[in-house]
Formats: sequence, structure tokens, C-alpha cells
Amino acid sequence: MRTALLAVLALGAVTACGPSRRGPAFGTPREFTAQEQEGRVLFMRNCNMCHPGGSGGLGPSINNKPLPSAAMRVQIRQGVGSMPAFTDEMLNDAQVDAIIAYLNEMQEEKG
Ligand code: HEC
Repeated sequence: MRTALLAVLALGAVTACGPSRRGPAFGTPREFTAQEQEGRVLFMRNCNMCHPGGSGGLGPSINNKPLPSAAMRVQIRQGVGSMPAFTDEMLNDAQVDAIIAYLNEMQEEKG
């Protein structure tokens, strides 16, 4: 009898503390794909000084609005306005793709 009661109590404790489905905690680092991660590093190296953290600095903020990938590519390659152009020697196509993938991911977050 006593053992049965203990078993019931123990079972109750296990269910009460059992894993419950939760969303990710606030402040959890995002998970980047390998390409986005490469883009993040390239962004920090080439773009962050004018678009710090994707927000406005010397250049306008680029993380607060959906920018079409094609427009970003033109902006990077041609350097519209006072932004310098990034030539093929500075960033190859795969690197530009990676930066765009990273920026798209960051823009989604702002959603
Ligand atoms: C020397 C400073 C500088 C650097 C470095 C720079 N930018 Fe810019 N960027 C600017 C300025 C200034 C503008 C605004 C151009 C204009 O329209 O006059 C701009 C505009 C942009 C825009 C268009 C924003 C819009 O609202 O349409 C994008 C996208 C962008 N930059 C991405 C990048 C990326 C990606 C890199 C790195 C590969 C980069 N920038 C590096 C200064 C910079």
C-alpha cells in the first residue's frame, strides 16, 4: 500500500517535470546556414563600417525593409550613390550571394 502510494507520487513528479514543448528562449543565437555565416563574416569585413549591424551609419539602414536580392546585387556591384562599387576581385559572385543570403535572413527577422 505504502509502496503504491510512493509510486504514484513518483510518477506524478516525473510527469510534472517532464519536458514540455517550448519555443526558443529570448536571446537565443540564430542558426545560420553555412552560406549565411560566410555572408555574415564578409558583411562584417566589407559593409559593417557603413551599415553597422545592418542599421544606418554612413549608409542607410538595410535591415529594416525587404530589399530584392537583385537590387542588392546591383547596389553592391555598381555602388549606387556614394557607396563604393565592389568589383569581382574584391568579392566574387559566391561571396556576393553569401552576403545577400545573410541580409535576407536578417531582414526576415525584422519581418
Ligand atoms: C563607404 C561606405 C559604404 C560601404 C563600405 C558599403 N555601403 Fe552600402 N551604402 C552606402 C551608402 C552611402 C548608401 C546609399 C547610397 C545612395 O543611394 O546614395 C548605401 C546603400 C546600400 C544599399 C541600398 C539601400 C536602400 O535603401 O536601397 C544596400 C543594399 C547596401 N548599401 C548594401 C551594402 C553591402 C552589402 C555592402 C558590403 C558589400 C555595403 N553596402 C558597403 C555606403 C556604404
